[in-house]
Amino acid sequence: MKNKNIIIAADHAGYYLKKKIIDFLEKEGYGIKDMGTYSPDAVDYPDFGHRLAAEVANGDYYAGISICGTGNGMNMTANKHQGIRSALCWNEEIGRLAKAHNDANICALPARFITDTEAMLIVKTFLKTDFEGGRHKRRIEKIPITKKQ
Ligand code: RB5
Repeated sequence: MKNKNIIIAADHAGYYLKKKIIDFLEKEGYGIKDMGTYSPDAVDYPDFGHRLAAEVANGDYYAGISICGTGNGMNMTANKHQGIRSALCWNEEIGRLAKAHNDANICALPARFITDTEAMLIVKTFLKTDFEGGRHKRRIEKIPITKKQ
């Protein structure tokens, strides 16, 4: 396995799944930085989504994993950051394509809509998949807003 450092964050809806994913990825040999939340008490997902995205955008991590109830709030928040391509991944194949075609650097998970087993499969596949480049590189390079538009 490549040496890949991962950073993870969740709101209260993703708190328990985050703990399970950390255990799973540590067993798989990944280094994990846990950005919270650190209890099941209610929090506001943008506070955690912004912190996670800022760290991933800095380039110190191979990828980020975000978790909230639907995945949408964390995903929307992260995608406001320059250089972030956060993908809402609700099954294994979406997780694979998020990396292979979109070179996503954050995998956003909907804790209330997937099982723990599904979550582990999504994360494992997302992290082991390589970006295919080629035509997909041209396409992701068109995602940022530029003056040409
Ligand atoms: C929290 O109840 C819930 O709204 C949040 O986890 C997320 O689903 C928002 O997008």
